Amino acid sequence: MTEKNIESLLHEDRSFEPPVEFASAARLGNREDYDAIRSKAAADPEAFWASIAEELHWFRKWDQVLDWSNPPFAKWFVGAKTNISHNCLDRNLDRGLGDKTAILWEGEPGDRREISYSELHASVCEFAGALLAKGIKAGDRIALYMPMVPELAIAMLACARIGATHSIVFGGFSADSLRDRINDAEAAMVITADGGWRRGKVLALKDIVDDAVVQCPSVKNVIVLKRCENEVAWDEERDTWWHDALVGVAPLQAAAELDAEHPLFILYTSGTTGKPKGVVHSTGGYMTQAYITTRWIFDLKDDDIYWCTADIGWVTGHSYIVYGPLMNGASVVMYEGAPDTPGKDRFWDIVERYGVTVLYTAPTAIRTFMKWGDELPASHDLSSLRLLGTVGEPINPEAWMWYRRVIGGDRCPIVDTWWQTETGAIMISPVPGAVTTKPGSATLPFPGIDAEVVDSDGEPVAANQGGLLVIRKPWPGMLRTIYGDPERFKEQYWARIPGMYFAGDGARRDEDGYFWIMGRIDDVMNVSGHRLGTMEVESALVGHEAVTEAAVVGRPDDVKGEAVAAFVTLGPGYEGDDELAAALRAHVGKEIGAFAKPDDIRFTDALPKTRSGKIMRRLLRDIAAGRDEVGDTTTLEDYSVLASLREDD
Ligand code: WT7
Repeated sequence: MTEKNIESLLHEDRSFEPPVEFASAARLGNREDYDAIRSKAAADPEAFWASIAEELHWFRKWDQVLDWSNPPFAKWFVGAKTNISHNCLDRNLDRGLGDKTAILWEGEPGDRREISYSELHASVCEFAGALLAKGIKAGDRIALYMPMVPELAIAMLACARIGATHSIVFGGFSADSLRDRINDAEAAMVITADGGWRRGKVLALKDIVDDAVVQCPSVKNVIVLKRCENEVAWDEERDTWWHDALVGVAPLQAAAELDAEHPLFILYTSGTTGKPKGVVHSTGGYMTQAYITTRWIFDLKDDDIYWCTADIGWVTGHSYIVYGPLMNGASVVMYEGAPDTPGKDRFWDIVERYGVTVLYTAPTAIRTFMKWGDELPASHDLSSLRLLGTVGEPINPEAWMWYRRVIGGDRCPIVDTWWQTETGAIMISPVPGAVTTKPGSATLPFPGIDAEVVDSDGEPVAANQGGLLVIRKPWPGMLRTIYGDPERFKEQYWARIPGMYFAGDGARRDEDGYFWIMGRIDDVMNVSGHRLGTMEVESALVGHEAVTEAAVVGRPDDVKGEAVAAFVTLGPGYEGDDELAAALRAHVGKEIGAFAKPDDIRFTDALPKTRSGKIMRRLLRDIAAGRDEVGDTTTLEDYSVLASLREDD
């Protein structure tokens, strides 16, 4: 979030009421009714969430809605048995949706598949049978490192069907990152593909898996989907083609009856230390919140064609490509590749050809499209669209207005949805038929969610005062722990303001109670909507032989939101030249993944530190952003360091 954006958000006074036509057909179509739901939910959140859970299928109902006797370790729907795969598939077949299209998939090269709910169900049952045949049991962890193909959704749903906990690793992560995540979760199996298509080239996923798993003693099996027909190395003992794994296997018809608190998935995300955290989500609560947020916020109806452009490797794809929409029996568009292949109008071409009605994407993508020009969307018929969504970072009002005008034809409401990997599902967002929107504001907390902006004592701040964004009561989709590290879970999220979940974001509420998210206030960057810890990049840099010390900060970037700026001091005998900068970028790419490569690297003799030896990040942020007026330097140990850093500008 740049200073400029904060400035413009402070002065934003436009607002847009739900269009009458939209509201009259919406699931929730007026503010009074919505407020009634919100106040009832606020008075008794457990009753609210239980009433939503009733809409889903349970093998056995709960004895207790919430057990909060041992905070911050929540248990939702205590004693209940359910299965999210059953709710995504069998429940829809039971409702007569078997012939309805579940997935409209398009590969980057242009190949297409349409998969009905019955077909998806059959494929999931088959693959679940294959997992059992490989000895996978409920509670085992399975790492998924896959392109955006239907088999990724099939694998997730098959894991969920038998109670194996999936850990999806985004295909942009390097072999080292994949290895660390596999080892942290002690995954028994990896599911991957020979490759995936990205900008006309094959991303050789199996090669990366091969590099990773040589250092993963827990991995007994690797299942490989044939997607790109590229050459792959083969380990006869360990590797099985996906199609061979299905041969002679009995499909698992009945989904396992799992405890509501059974761990559904682990998803690794960055924090303030060098080591990513395995965020653990469980079944019943997550399912309930993912289901109802999808239903109300995206206003899904039977004939909608819904497209979320995220990658399933991030939480957005888990909750709003796979679980949420499928539980709602929606027809979901899934696209494998890049937005600029073969042309920069690929997204608009997809919207037009499939008649997409609801589009959910990220501010960084919207800003990229703005740069590419209005002509590209204008050359396609986008009149099927009726609702637009955004997620991942604060959206600047200019991008919001452009999205509304150029993509939404001034007719579609925009839902700006705030949430996190940890929250599991959307927490703050307009409900489009009921809530007036303001460009740049995520508006109001979802019913049953107790969000607030507080000071460091946990006291709510006055209207339009900045503060810390917190959640004061447990919610069903909340993370249950950090995998293998319950202490870190407590310390990271519940210690800063005792008794409240601190989200890491700064925010303010305006006079209407609307939330305006100001971005991260910890040492976490948001690069193109992807969370990246400064410490992670720093540990990667100091892992290079030439580097003695490194400090990494985010700096404002018009398209990415934040870019990665690194300040590096070198050991004796090393020269800070372009060649070394390139080598360091490559090194970070290898350690973490290409998306983490620093945009700027500055070599310096020393880093500015306080007397107690803390790196003065605020100062570095000012320098990285090219701001002339740097902040308070009275605690700066060595003024000359500042002078020399600035000279390099
Ligand atoms: C962080 C969470 C949740 C899916 C994608 C990112 C930022 C997310 C918004 C929004 C302002 C937002 C926050 C948050 N963020 N959505 N609508 N407005 N900021 O998931 O990687 O877990 O990152 O993304 O800073 O803390 P994530």
